[in-house]
Amino acid sequence: MSTTEEQQTKKEKLIAQMKNWIEQASKMTKEELKFSYKGILYPSVLCSEETFQAMEKLEAREDDVLILTYPKCGTNWTLQILHEMLLEIYNKEPTMDKGMLEFGKPEKYEYLNQEPSPRILASHISYEIIPKTFFEKKTKMLLILRNPKDTAVSYYHFTNNNPVLPTYESWDLFFKDYISGNVIYGSYFDYTLQWEKHIDDGNILVLTFEDMKVDLPKELKKISDFYGLAMMDEQIKLVKEKTTFLSMKEKSSKTHGDLGIVFFRKGEVGDWKSLFTEEQSKEVDAKFEKYLAGTKLGNMINYEKYCKF
Ligand code: A3P
Repeated sequence: MSTTEEQQTKKEKLIAQMKNWIEQASKMTKEELKFSYKGILYPSVLCSEETFQAMEKLEAREDDVLILTYPKCGTNWTLQILHEMLLEIYNKEPTMDKGMLEFGKPEKYEYLNQEPSPRILASHISYEIIPKTFFEKKTKMLLILRNPKDTAVSYYHFTNNNPVLPTYESWDLFFKDYISGNVIYGSYFDYTLQWEKHIDDGNILVLTFEDMKVDLPKELKKISDFYGLAMMDEQIKLVKEKTTFLSMKEKSSKTHGDLGIVFFRKGEVGDWKSLFTEEQSKEVDAKFEKYLAGTKLGNMINYEKYCKF
């Protein structure tokens, strides 16, 4: 089988798997769609305790790319960026675990261990349960942040339109769970704050969704430098063109099947104003103040600019 055919088969397998997940979810109640593991909620169709335990079998490599995000902070965008960058540099398709590292059957890690480098992985899990092998191998990680208000609005639409996640009858009900950390993957604020003590370890590059929107080539250059890819300006430009919101949305039914439209919704900054009440806005301000104000990551989020009415 040629490499292109192999890639085609992998894409088809992924889309078939998504269909299967949707089918499974259609037979479950809202409550059954989530389960708790070590105090945090996860999507039952995609994750399981067995898979979390089997994750320890994964052998990290120095040349892996690991993307870390709270849901809706730009995971798929960054995955595609890294895919295009590595393809450009090595002239061959990198291994890409398109679902999250924590999705799927426990056997997946044995299979991932056999896959060639470079491998691109992404995860929403917290530091505590990321396999230690990544830290031992000093795998270079990308942490992508997004302001907490746009993240909430994006998450609300996503949970209501993605059949494997629980739906909410209203934005207000979703907001209550979001602000109290009672959503899948837990609290945005806990997730973001936990990284504060690890960002100086030397192997984490932190970027923001908003900076990527303002000047994508500048952020792409940072990624290229961080991974030692030495990309030329022309190559950066090419990657930029392939990863704009519109070009990714256009290809979304090929990359994400029927869920394409759900993953690529608006891709903008400031959409929170479409749903937030003033009171809800103040609640997030207070949480931000308590958890992240004055921290390095909090400063990177540029809260004053992106989250004030
Ligand atoms: P919106 O719901 O605000 O549109 P994730 O991949 O972590 O689930 O994040 C999804 C969010 O990233 C969605 O936000 C989606 O539209 C946005 N997104 C995806 N690709 C993008 C791109 N190339 N440029 C800008 N935003 C993008």
